[in-house]
Amino acid sequence: MDESGHLSLIKMKTVFLNGEYIAEDQAQVSVFDRGFLFGDSVYEVIPFYQGVGFRLDEHLQRLAYSLEAIQIVADYDWSAILTRLVDLNGGGNLSVYLQISRGSAGRRSHIYDANMIPTVFACCNPIKDIYDAGPDSIAGVRAMVTDDLRWGRCDIKSTGLLPNILVMQQAKQAGVQEGLMMRDGLLTEGASCNVMLVEKGVIYTPRGGAEILGGTTRELIRELAANNGIVMQEADIDYARLLAADEVWLSSSTRAVVPVIEIDGQPVADGKKGPLWAQMFELFTRYQNDLMNG
Ligand code: PDD
Repeated sequence: MDESGHLSLIKMKTVFLNGEYIAEDQAQVSVFDRGFLFGDSVYEVIPFYQGVGFRLDEHLQRLAYSLEAIQIVADYDWSAILTRLVDLNGGGNLSVYLQISRGSAGRRSHIYDANMIPTVFACCNPIKDIYDAGPDSIAGVRAMVTDDLRWGRCDIKSTGLLPNILVMQQAKQAGVQEGLMMRDGLLTEGASCNVMLVEKGVIYTPRGGAEILGGTTRELIRELAANNGIVMQEADIDYARLLAADEVWLSSSTRAVVPVIEIDGQPVADGKKGPLWAQMFELFTRYQNDLMNG
């Protein structure tokens, strides 16, 4: 009952846990799970639009890469599982969070047995339909630059995100929406996104490698640029270059491509969303829409 005496129905979400589709309040994981104790786990965040996985193969390839890198063997039909989970949660536009930890040995020990049974967890969250909402609905992001204090294998999509969450909290306390990280004087990525900048119509993005995550959205932007005669290159980007850019963008599965309008209190160019961003947003949402409509 709510305050006015009406019966309020709270719709329980369905989650996937170790082979079962269950209500979220029924899902339980051991306190000895190594994901909980050590962050010994990897994850993916995969958007589904109108119930269909977006760049699903690319996400599953990266998942396989992360699992292999930390030697977890988990043989599941991910595509079938996630599609069913999205259906059970009403379909539409949802992002799926999928986490696989090494599992629990019933005790805490740094050493693990090779034959442990992984814990597999997936849940859904609502995601904005940027195609219908259009470019005017996308707010320019204010960002700050901070040190990249992460480990040396940021190419693995590990749940060990303490440095990332501290950066996001630092950004929040500074009244901005994103922290851009720099290591040894060079831009790496955002706390939960890749970064691109534009100079004289050319897109530049930090070099791929162990220092950053190989973003699926960044790869799509690379493809869209190549197919539309826009040059995109990897480069070393220092602080001065970042602040002097004509445009700066962020990319991730949950945000697609968003413009940065201010960095460390300085406007990016004229402090407005840039024209190449508007073009890329259009290419991106058109690609998305074509894919969803077959
Ligand atoms: N983050 N870099 C980092 C550190 C990220 O956490 C992410 C994604 C990306 C972009 O990857 P992709 O384009 O494949 O989503 C880059 C997800 C969305 C998250 O942690 O919620």
